[in-house]
Amino acid sequence: MRSYHILSIVSLLSGPTARATSVFDLFDFEKNHISDEALDSFVSTAGSCLTCARRAPRCKTYPGDPDWPSDLTWKTFNTSLSGALIATIPEAAPCYGSNVSAISPECQFLTSSWDNSSFRVEDPTSIRATLYQGQTCLPPSFAPSFLPTSNGSCTLGGYPSYTVNVTSVAQIQLAVRFAKAHNIRFVIKNTGHDFLGKSTGMGALSVWTHRLKEKTFNFERYDGEEIGPALRLGAGVHVFEAYELAQRHNVTVIGGEGKTVGIVGGYTQGGGHSPLSSLYGLSADQVLSISLVTASGRFLTANRTSHADLFWALRGGGGGTFAVVTSMVLKAHPQIKVTTMRYSIKTSPTFSQENFWKAMAAYLDRFEEFADKGYYSYFRITHSSDGEIGHEMASWVAPNTSISEFRMSIAPLLSEWQALGMPIETFTITEYDDFASAWAAGFPQEPWTWNGRQASRFFPRSVVANATSRAASLAAIRAVFDAGAFFIMFNMRNPPGAAAIDNAVLPAWRDVLLFAIMVVTWKETTPAPQVEALSRNLTEVWNPMWRALTPGSGTYLSEADYLEPGWQESFHGDKYGRLLRVKEKWDREGLFWSHRAVGSEAWEESEVLLGHLPSQNSRLCKRWEPTSIS
Ligand SMILES: Cc1cc2nc3c(=O)[nH]c(=O)nc-3n(C[C@H](O)[C@H](O)[C@H](O)COP(=O)(O)OP(=O)(O)OC[C@H]3O[C@@H](n4cnc5c(N)ncnc54)[C@H](O)[C@@H]3O)c2cc1C
Ligand SMILES: *[C@@H]1O[C@H](CO)[C@@H](O)[C@H](O)[C@H]1NC(C)=O
Ligand SMILES: *[C@@H]1O[C@H](CO)[C@@H](O)[C@H](O)[C@H]1NC(C)=O
Ligand SMILES: *[C@@H]1O[C@H](CO)[C@@H](O)[C@H](O)[C@H]1NC(C)=O
Ligand SMILES: *[C@@H]1O[C@H](CO)[C@@H](O)[C@H](O)[C@H]1NC(C)=O
Ligand SMILES: *[C@@H]1O[C@H](CO)[C@@H](O)[C@H](O)[C@H]1NC(C)=O
Ligand SMILES: *[C@@H]1O[C@H](CO)[C@@H](O)[C@H](O)[C@H]1NC(C)=O
Ligand SMILES: *[C@@H]1O[C@H](CO)[C@@H](O)[C@H](O)[C@H]1NC(C)=O
Ligand SMILES: *[C@@H]1O[C@H](CO)[C@@H](O)[C@H](O)[C@H]1NC(C)=O
Ligand SMILES: *[C@@H]1O[C@H](CO)[C@@H](O)[C@H](O)[C@H]1NC(C)=O
Ligand SMILES: *[C@@H]1O[C@H](CO)[C@@H](O)[C@H](O)[C@H]1NC(C)=O
Repeated sequence: MRSYHILSIVSLLSGPTARATSVFDLFDFEKNHISDEALDSFVSTAGSCLTCARRAPRCKTYPGDPDWPSDLTWKTFNTSLSGALIATIPEAAPCYGSNVSAISPECQFLTSSWDNSSFRVEDPTSIRATLYQGQTCLPPSFAPSFLPTSNGSCTLGGYPSYTVNVTSVAQIQLAVRFAKAHNIRFVIKNTGHDFLGKSTGMGALSVWTHRLKEKTFNFERYDGEEIGPALRLGAGVHVFEAYELAQRHNVTVIGGEGKTVGIVGGYTQGGGHSPLSSLYGLSADQVLSISLVTASGRFLTANRTSHADLFWALRGGGGGTFAVVTSMVLKAHPQIKVTTMRYSIKTSPTFSQENFWKAMAAYLDRFEEFADKGYYSYFRITHSSDGEIGHEMASWVAPNTSISEFRMSIAPLLSEWQALGMPIETFTITEYDDFASAWAAGFPQEPWTWNGRQASRFFPRSVVANATSRAASLAAIRAVFDAGAFFIMFNMRNPPGAAAIDNAVLPAWRDVLLFAIMVVTWKETTPAPQVEALSRNLTEVWNPMWRALTPGSGTYLSEADYLEPGWQESFHGDKYGRLLRVKEKWDREGLFWSHRAVGSEAWEESEVLLGHLPSQNSRLCKRWEPTSIS
């Protein structure tokens, strides 16, 4: 017997013949799973690495190693998956035919589509952060001149060897058991958006969750508790698809700004900030239930009362670490009106850089006030090619606020800006009836890729609200800008009460008022030593300036430096110990491994790129045996 009750039925669902489906019911692709008992018999049919058990190898097994599965074993595995196994062909392989000087029409199309994320997410192995993959097999015009790609060959580099094009939970279970039995690196890939390259790995078996698109909506009551509107989303659903579903039912779902980011993948598992976070908190705070496959291949549902430790860790502890999530149930909210503002400005002979920074100071002075009104703003400060500063408000979002209320609240700032001569003629302010419409108009799709690296920091309320430390922060921000980085910045908060939610979200998230990301980019033709110098400055010189002003704070694991020093504390604060215990309980052998994920310090990539970046195009080997669970 189910203990929940469906409050509203047919009227809320699309077709007149549609039957109410509770969001707590498994999707069809989840009903297609293997029971624990049947799973145990799989190992014998798939075979396993017999020598592995004897030798307890320090490194994962790679193509060419004696223990690597034979072609016949892969074929048998493919049969058990009903033919869903794909041998990796890098997306730009058509650019590397036998005649490399001939640019085929297919390669021309790939080159012109390379920045189009809607296109790139359809490829089983393409990732955004190709830098850490080794940048093998890029379309030639994107290939850095200092890498082997410029020599005209297409190699797999840090891409996995095989991908399971998943359409059922059973296939994920089989893949987990196969990778474990054969000691093969295991990767979970959804969209490939991860900035730290966490959805790739040389010689790996990857599960690709992109086709798990099922989604349902309902008003729910559970165990006597009123839940209200909720969505169940399959692991392959994009942010924009979740918004569409919520909009269809006149409710609001908490999601990010990037259109094709995977909502149930790295986004929510890593925390997930939203234009609505100042009002409702993070996406991880909305999760009611998670269905998943464990490192031993078991399919189960984790919630407050069942497997509560996994449920806790998967809400903020990071993707690719604890389990393969197959779906999540997320709480939704009533529809609200939303006002947004966009503008872009540039310094010039009539608007000096000095006055620009004064204008930013006037803005920062009001960060506390704006965030406490529930506002969120997302803006960039960039270098123009003519040496001037560009500043783009990529959308200031005022939820539950009318256009007149919004205008009134920003009037003092605007008049201060006017007095400084800030030329904001081109701005638009618009009120929308619902969040999804505001988001669609206010957040144009971003390009998939660039040659760059980033680092970031949370500036907490204690720093931003204090005039002395606020001035010091702005000085450090300006110093990093003048040294050559550009910025992506967010003014937001987490609402009162969010800190009391018992999930794995970094405590510093709850105090943030300014989330600042510094970015360095380079050209395909930039020489390697200069790229390395930029990359080192980011980690070794510039981010430390921000860290020094924000002791005890941290940063967002999904939008952080690939080399974040002391990342365990920066990404997880005092929750790291508890996260590590969950990891050791559920995945003691380290099947789920991602760069800078919980427990990843037990392993090491064998090679570095540009002198200091651990490469995903290298072997993964244990540094030490995991400590025992106390
Ligand atoms: C254009 C753009 C805009 C963004 N906007 C925001 C924003 O507004 N707010 C915000 O918080 N973040 C934002 N991000 C960051 C985003 O949350 C991360 O890049 C996130 O890792 C993407 O998750 P994914 O599943 O789409 O990507 P992937 O690269 O496929 O996966 C990311 C990580 O999650 C793991 N993973 C994926 N699916 C699963 C699964 N089903 N089970 C277990 N692990 C899984 C992967 O192994 C990997 O470690 C943005 C990123 C981009 C590129
Ligand atoms: C798996 O089987 C399918 C169907 O027979 C086939 O198309 C595919 O190429 C096979 N994959 C591999 C890696 O051989
Ligand atoms: C390679 O392509 C170039 C440009 O299209 C062409 O001129 C050349 O003849 C081709 N060479 C061969 C061996 O096909
Ligand atoms: C981006 O790719 C998608 C999916 O292939 C396609 O529908 C869209 O037209 C492309 N956009 C551009 C600007 O080419
Ligand atoms: C590319 O090829 C040239 C000539 O064969 C060689 O000298 C160079 O080392 C190669 N570059 C890389 C990065 O492999
Ligand atoms: C993945 O599987 C789906 C559904 O079976 C299929 O439509 C699609 O073509 C497959 N994708 C690839 C890249 O093989
Ligand atoms: C959503 O709101 C619109 C406008 O008020 C209404 O016409 C529509 O029936 C509502 N849809 C649902 C599913 O409640
Ligand atoms: C939690 O999950 C278990 C196992 O699936 C289920 O029996 C129980 O009803 C769920 N409880 C809640 C509150 O979601
Ligand atoms: C939105 O505003 C209304 C009216 O001011 C208020 O009653 C409601 O609580 C607000 N909603 C949220 C989520 O803050
Ligand atoms: C403000 O910050 C400065 C510099 O960090 C510090 O010395 C001072 O005590 C702070 N003031 C308050 C009221 O916290
Ligand atoms: C790195 O930083 C140092 C010190 O700020 C500076 O002198 C140097 O020019 C920077 N190098 C690059 C490539 O940005």
